[in-house]
Amino acid sequence: MEARVLSGMRPTGKLHFGHYHGVLVNWLRLQKEYECFFFVADWHALTTDYAAPKGIKDNVREMLLDWLSVGIDPKKATIFRQSAIKEHAELFVLLSMITPLPWLERNPTYKEQLEEIRDKDLHTFGFLGYPVLQTADIIVYKAAKVPVGIDQAPHLELSREITRRFNHFYGEVFPEPQTLLTESPKVLGTDGRKMSKSYNNAVLLSDPPEVVEKKMLQMMTDTARKRRTDPGNPDRCPLYITFHLLYSDNKTLEWVREGCTQAKIGCTECKRSVIPKVLEMLGPIQKRRKEFEANPALLDDILREGSIKASKVAQKTMTDVRKAMGLE
Ligand code: TRP
Ligand code: SF4
Repeated sequence: MEARVLSGMRPTGKLHFGHYHGVLVNWLRLQKEYECFFFVADWHALTTDYAAPKGIKDNVREMLLDWLSVGIDPKKATIFRQSAIKEHAELFVLLSMITPLPWLERNPTYKEQLEEIRDKDLHTFGFLGYPVLQTADIIVYKAAKVPVGIDQAPHLELSREITRRFNHFYGEVFPEPQTLLTESPKVLGTDGRKMSKSYNNAVLLSDPPEVVEKKMLQMMTDTARKRRTDPGNPDRCPLYITFHLLYSDNKTLEWVREGCTQAKIGCTECKRSVIPKVLEMLGPIQKRRKEFEANPALLDDILREGSIKASKVAQKTMTDVRKAMGLE
């Protein structure tokens, strides 16, 4: 069997173009080549949303609907919820025994988020231990490769260190998980910043066509083009970078570059030339979403079957772990 690939996402609700090009496109490719485990990190959602967990359930569902509608295929990949597989928690406890606190305290993501997220109290044991749980998620499947974006690289580095420490104390139980750093195109939101749900600038995969169109027509362009007669530069245009580059053919790209730099076309005309391409790409995705939405039992079946498969692997690993630690 090919190397085992594992990745997860926190349930944040409906996904946007940033998730699609940053993560899902890679998963789609990987599921063809490897034995893949893709899971919803609902316990990780609690590390920040413990005080108001009500939304998590809907977020899990919406996110799964997006995974399935873009073509993440339960026949190819094992899809499940973290909280369904209790072995993650057992391994988390055991790893927490061997993880030095300073490793967690100097984790850059931890420090950043403590600074940035002001509306929640993140001085909790769970939040500090986030990467320990993430390590358990990975190595409980003895995963060899973990596809993630660059933002997760520090966590993966910690995962490798914790894994080495485990193997050092108890014997070579786990392979060291490798980060599959996935190259992904820049996806900017309607305001020109990185596309992100929290910036409220995202175009969702599930936005109805008229909403997609509206958002794109309102999207920021090169600020040099204040008037129709001002020349611009596509490389400074969020709409161009995010949509033209990803969805227009070369002929259109040339037409845009010439028209923009020589002020021969207006931004609305330019935007209108790519909107149909984006809607065309979304068509089949949204069609599949509707099919899954109409059949809620299917989602439960997929998760149940995924859990059964994941559970088998996780239980086997935990037998090895208990034995290595003298707990059997
Ligand atoms: N921390 C990841 C994120 O925020 C989600 C995650 C949890 C994960 N456990 C994982 C990713 C294990 C890869 C492997 O997106
Ligand atoms: Fe962007 Fe097109 Fe306007 Fe140039 S003409 S700034 S590429 S939208």
